[in-house]
Amino acid sequence: MGAPAGLPAVMRLYVETYGCQMNVADTELICGLLAGEGFESTTDPSRADVLLVNTCAVRDNAEQRVIGRLSELRRYKRPGIVLGVVGCMAQRLGQQLLDRVSHVDLVIGPDGYRALPELIEGARRGNRATETRFKAWEHYEDVPALRGDGPRAFVTVQRGCDYRCTFCVVPITRGRERSRRLADVVAEVENLVDHGISEVTLLGQTVNSYNDGQHDFADLLSAVGTVEGIRRVRYTSPHPNDFSERVLLAMATVPTVCEHVHLPVQSGSSHILKRMGRRYDRRQYEECVANLRRSIPNLAITTDIIVGFPGETEEDFLATESLVRQIGFDDAFTFKYSQREGTGAVRLPAQVPEATKGERLERIIATVREIACSRNLQLIGSREEVLVEGLARRGELLQSRTRANKVVLISGPAEWIGSYLTVRLTGTTGATFTGVPSAAGKELTIVG
Ligand code: SAH
Ligand code: F3S
Repeated sequence: MGAPAGLPAVMRLYVETYGCQMNVADTELICGLLAGEGFESTTDPSRADVLLVNTCAVRDNAEQRVIGRLSELRRYKRPGIVLGVVGCMAQRLGQQLLDRVSHVDLVIGPDGYRALPELIEGARRGNRATETRFKAWEHYEDVPALRGDGPRAFVTVQRGCDYRCTFCVVPITRGRERSRRLADVVAEVENLVDHGISEVTLLGQTVNSYNDGQHDFADLLSAVGTVEGIRRVRYTSPHPNDFSERVLLAMATVPTVCEHVHLPVQSGSSHILKRMGRRYDRRQYEECVANLRRSIPNLAITTDIIVGFPGETEEDFLATESLVRQIGFDDAFTFKYSQREGTGAVRLPAQVPEATKGERLERIIATVREIACSRNLQLIGSREEVLVEGLARRGELLQSRTRANKVVLISGPAEWIGSYLTVRLTGTTGATFTGVPSAAGKELTIVG
């Protein structure tokens, strides 16, 4: 059967993704959904019939980058070629984005991707549209994600967020928290194993508050962690208040759950934490870390930090620096506070000047690096199990990762990708490691 008049035989889809892992997972859903409609993916925007930009709204600079990128993508716009903005920035701006950027055809929020085929059809006939309604039930359960190659996969288990941190736009862009049914998650993970996946990362905005009405996050960790063929389970990001005894027990007793937690702290000052609406103070965060470390020996802990939140004094900032040293974070993502329309913090007095934010960011980055480096130096000489993930970005080396999420570059043949090896850590740049494969205390000679 031929293609309908005026339509190319095969429609080509180009997607660019910004922001967090959940956006990466959403892009995989979008690609899967459109593959089901006969679309082929392309990495070349000049060959695409549909170009989508999956966006982040968490900080203003993320949005500015997208605006800049949309101007560049304009050159691919010809009659019949569709340009769409999807994700959190699309949800936040909706119609405003259509009004502001005249060459954008579609604006679709995180709950609206099922409408893509129909809206793309319409856009090809010149109908520009937005779809930003929240759907409290939406998990794209029947949409098969189209994932890249490699032994690892993201699995979204919870969407939305019911916390209301005063700096954060996510509850505005992703709606209310809801969890997928445990049985559906397990079925997806079983299917991933059949496709060569052995490591999964469970995703949610406060993933450890997962609850499908019958099961909590501890049940989920146990169920996913015991799927045959799964060797590693990770999750991101938990909230400190949602680490129940049951979750700690599951982490400690399910052998596939990795010894790494990404636990956003945001600030080391209780005064600022209160203004942020984080619902814990410094002491409670410290206790949470102590409980985790007691349950899981050799746990690596990474975090997110915001500097320059309204009202942050030099003393508050120094409290954050001291917390970084005290906890001994293995790494941290550090951000300058960015004012987001519609969030509680916009109305707070004592916004911090941009120059002060910039200066504090530099100082916190230096502290995080120093602490991470000193922790990593202590690991030199130790033996670790790594999963070989793929080719390293530069050179001929392979990139692998320990259970504690440390990146180790090793030399070896591409056939090792997807397999587990024991390596001895031989050096570190401070952040990443070099390693040599070893077995039973003896180094291997690498052939080929
Ligand atoms: N709970 C989510 C948080 C999403 S936002 C999760 O899965 O991690 C990711 C990080 O961005 C936050 O932890 C915070 O450190 C940072 N962030 C969020 N809003 C911000 C803002 N307005 N300005 C600067 N950083 C922000
Ligand atoms: Fe944002 Fe706080 Fe939720 S950081 S995603 S409102 S837990």
